[in-house]
Amino acid sequence: MPIYLDNNATTQVHPRVATVIEAYLRSPGGNPSSDHAAGREAAAAVARARGQVAALLGCDATEIVFTGSGSESNNLALKGVAYAHRDKGRHLVISATEHPAVTAPARFLEREGWELTVVPVGGDGRVRPGDVARALRRDTVLVSIMHSNNETGVMNPVVPIAALCHARGVLFHIDAAQSVGKVPIHVLDDAIDLLTVAGHKMGAPKGVGALFVRAGVPLEPVIHGAGHEGGRRAGTENVAYIAGLGEACALALERGLATFATQVRPLRDRLHELLVAGIPGLELNGHLTDRLPNTLNVSVPGALGREVLDTCAEVEASTGSACHEGEDSPSGVLLAMGLSPERALGALRLTLGIQTTAGDIDRAAAALLMAVDAHLG
Ligand SMILES: Cc1ncc(COP(=O)(O)O)c(C=O)c1O
Repeated sequence: MPIYLDNNATTQVHPRVATVIEAYLRSPGGNPSSDHAAGREAAAAVARARGQVAALLGCDATEIVFTGSGSESNNLALKGVAYAHRDKGRHLVISATEHPAVTAPARFLEREGWELTVVPVGGDGRVRPGDVARALRRDTVLVSIMHSNNETGVMNPVVPIAALCHARGVLFHIDAAQSVGKVPIHVLDDAIDLLTVAGHKMGAPKGVGALFVRAGVPLEPVIHGAGHEGGRRAGTENVAYIAGLGEACALALERGLATFATQVRPLRDRLHELLVAGIPGLELNGHLTDRLPNTLNVSVPGALGREVLDTCAEVEASTGSACHEGEDSPSGVLLAMGLSPERALGALRLTLGIQTTAGDIDRAAAALLMAVDAHLG
């Protein structure tokens, strides 16, 4: 079995989550809007899951909107806030390392007449609050900054950014697709207005997500229809997957949010040490400490990350670079941090999960070192 070190791409469905989903798939399966026993059972399952997601984020259950993915949550946050506030202003702020699920709706809004400011990141991958402060204008309606980056794991200083947005009456959205379940986030303490959750990054299946929308924040739906999700997202609820996302949140809370870090970080750091010891000049991409505990992004000097992984069947991981018609193009995230194209093309993104063992790390390091040796000779 290859060693799976691509948990930022997606995680395995946790067995307890799978059991919950299966139970709902095998149940009579009423429509949560129907007023009979099967419908009420489905509505109760959705309500329970809403409470479980809210408990993990530290908000009220009414502030959770279930969606079909992290991408949909981001689209709803950006377009929903922009359209609901278009009479107040038409200026948005994002960062240079956002996931395409934020960048693309922001660019769409730009084509529709909104103005967009993209704030840079430092060499450590972090957004600087001062840059956000300078980007704010009288007509700014929303700032959207990711909590942690999917490629480098770098975590942004969202609390000071939230404070400066609020001081200027600007709403603040964070894309926390990679952070929820891995590191503690409390939306009320951290003064977040909107927050994206992606189920498949935290032990639930692909195709379910959630958006926290602080009570009182006006939001235009992206999917119009009947009044599901408090009129914020139409569509009959995916009861089984919503129940699964709720269970994944309950699991994260039960495990204790600090446990993910205490279990996974030492393994991630051991992998880093083994690679540093075997690969001269190996470079870490992103902040040394303000990083998700499961994420290691390193560049192998003189090698192409994709070619290293292509010859290393024992390890399933990714690079961040894209391949178009046989040509590798470096990761935009790493370029935005000021890395050279050569260093960005040498990147390997190795991301651990709660199931990763010390044995996995030793085997993965040995296999990667052999693959690098084969390349560099
Ligand atoms: C930071 C970030 N935001 C959003 C998404 C999109 O989530 P989904 O795959 O559920 O659409 C991802 C997925 O890779 C992500 O890493």
